[in-house]
Amino acid sequence: MKTEPVHIRPFIYLQCFLLARLIESSSLGSASPLLISSTVGNQAVLPCSWRKRLESMTSTCYVQWARVTGTVFERRGSDKWEADAFENRLEVPEETLRSGNCSLIIKDVQIGDTGTYESFMVVKLTDQQTKVFIQGIKLLVFDHKSRQTLAPGEDLLLELHTSHSLAVSFQHRDKSESSDLWVKGQQNNSPRLVYDPLKNQLTLKNLSYSDEGTYKVLDKQGLAISTMKLTIEERTKALKVQQPVEKDAASDAADRSSRSALLSASLLLVSFRFSHLFW
Ligand SMILES: *[C@@H]1O[C@H](CO)[C@@H](O)[C@H](O)[C@H]1NC(C)=O
Ligand SMILES: *[C@@H]1O[C@H](CO)[C@@H](O)[C@H](O)[C@H]1NC(C)=O
Repeated sequence: MKTEPVHIRPFIYLQCFLLARLIESSSLGSASPLLISSTVGNQAVLPCSWRKRLESMTSTCYVQWARVTGTVFERRGSDKWEADAFENRLEVPEETLRSGNCSLIIKDVQIGDTGTYESFMVVKLTDQQTKVFIQGIKLLVFDHKSRQTLAPGEDLLLELHTSHSLAVSFQHRDKSESSDLWVKGQQNNSPRLVYDPLKNQLTLKNLSYSDEGTYKVLDKQGLAISTMKLTIEERTKALKVQQPVEKDAASDAADRSSRSALLSASLLLVSFRFSHLFW
């Protein structure tokens, strides 16, 4: 940890305090939260900044990120603290913070991370600590959704997306209930199912018609990380599906109207340009 000589500390705190004033008067501290969306397993960055102008300044500025349930992350110089529930997935790099960027990085983002986050700057003048609100962010985390068509005898590759994937459930096309196909750490009973922990993937080999249905990857709270609908079709039939399908009248009409909207928009653009030229 880089430590400043003791005698300049009050000055630094004062700088932080002035900085806080700047934040307060800038547009950053807006009342409505900014919306950020991400997909499970990806990295999300919740933006936060305190004035670019002060980038070169070395200071012991102190950032705090909180949810309604309480503080989730804090950094003050090289010291940091993170709420246990996040299991080492949060970070505000020290270097980045020093340059005025207090953005919170959430690694391997989970459905349960959805919610509102608020950033604060903690400033200290002699022994008094004050929290200055910087920015509210609303994080939306989406699950993965997909469809696949495979032929009997082929293999199905199932991405588990995150290290927090705990189980895979399967619901047969004609059934209303689903059953566990795979549970992490448990002996799996199907010789056709292969788990690759390095790639974080499952392979279901030698598919048959009875494998047709919905596969869900679930986290420890039972929330769906991904939903995949599998259709089994003979190759020749599958090829036919990929050939152009006749469009229904409604989508055709929609197509036409969007084309004409595009046309009139470009006409508008042209006449706008003309009016610029002529006036
Ligand atoms: C702030 O830092 C984050 C990562 O820590 C980065 O993704 C983002 O681009 C940075 N923002 C600016 C304005 O540099
Ligand atoms: C694949 O499954 C079928 C039955 O669905 C079976 O007859 C065939 O032997 C299996 N092939 C392999 C390579 O296991």
